[in-house]
Amino acid sequence: MKCVDGSPRQTQKVFIHMFKSLSSILFSALVVVLPLALEGAETRPHNLIRVSDRIYSGAGPEGEADFKAIRNLGTNTIISVDGVTPDVKGAGALGMRYIHIPIGYDGITRKQAAELSQAMEETTGTLYVHCHHGQHRGPAAAALAWRLSTDCSATSATEVLERAKTGRDYHGLWAAMNMENLDQVREERPTLLETAKVADLTARMVLIDQSMDRLALAQKAGWVSPPDHPDVDPAQEVLMLEQHFREIGRAEDSKHPQDFRDWRAQAEKITVKLRDDLKAGQKAGADGYYADLRQNCRSCHVAYRNNR
Ligand code: HEC
Repeated sequence: MKCVDGSPRQTQKVFIHMFKSLSSILFSALVVVLPLALEGAETRPHNLIRVSDRIYSGAGPEGEADFKAIRNLGTNTIISVDGVTPDVKGAGALGMRYIHIPIGYDGITRKQAAELSQAMEETTGTLYVHCHHGQHRGPAAAALAWRLSTDCSATSATEVLERAKTGRDYHGLWAAMNMENLDQVREERPTLLETAKVADLTARMVLIDQSMDRLALAQKAGWVSPPDHPDVDPAQEVLMLEQHFREIGRAEDSKHPQDFRDWRAQAEKITVKLRDDLKAGQKAGADGYYADLRQNCRSCHVAYRNNR
């Protein structure tokens, strides 16, 4: 790891400099031990990795045992970048504060980066950053928070994603490691929320609809980026659709009857198959799944949108 600790930026407080050499020694020792002892899916919480001397990343806590494990890392602040409302009570019971910065699978906006920077600035001690599984959005947010609070390079931040085995297809998350003009981001100083507004079903449907519009252009162009819309990447659109339907399942399934849940699950499955066909260059197969997906939208809407 090139940027073990990241030199504190000049604006940081003097006492940090005093403790830095000691914490660097401790951290260097842990860096060697931790990959063997702690990293990977078998940890509690799952997918735990140490990003820096202040930051851990991993899966979302599921119950008291996970919160205890997080507390035992020395954590006093938990950052959730997940799209569901965090368990503020569960964290609070163990003396930990939540900061909620929901991010999408398509990348990290400058506003969200400013919130990550502010979280690093206004807290002291150890932070635990999580999404749902702790593999994609969480490590990306943790690595960017590390960059924003130190002088670590984009390369070092990218190495965190490699260690976390973040999916290569999430281009926006990888691109966020190269965010430019970080000083401008640091200057914003936004107000942080314990529970931010999360995307509800209507908001997700709007995003799904926009993705489907772009996908329609790609389909017409024979499943490549349309010449007049070079920014449209069909595989990316399908991946984002898959994530939206999955997140709807996590947030909504328990509120709806079985047939709604079936249509939602089917939509998610179709997107997986569509993406496989796109990867394999099976254009006729992709056309078929695209038609299935359109039909799936209609079926669920007839029952749950259009007639109520
Ligand atoms: C599992 C059921 C289900 C599936 C599948 C589904 N939808 Fe929806 N959709 C809904 C419901 C329910 C609403 C109404 C939400 C509300 O009350 O605001 C809705 C609303 C919408 C809206 C209106 C949003 C607004 O601004 O009010 C759009 C657009 C939409 N869906 C697009 C799609 C597309 C495109 C697909 C397929 C790729 C799709 N939906 C698949 C259930 C579904």
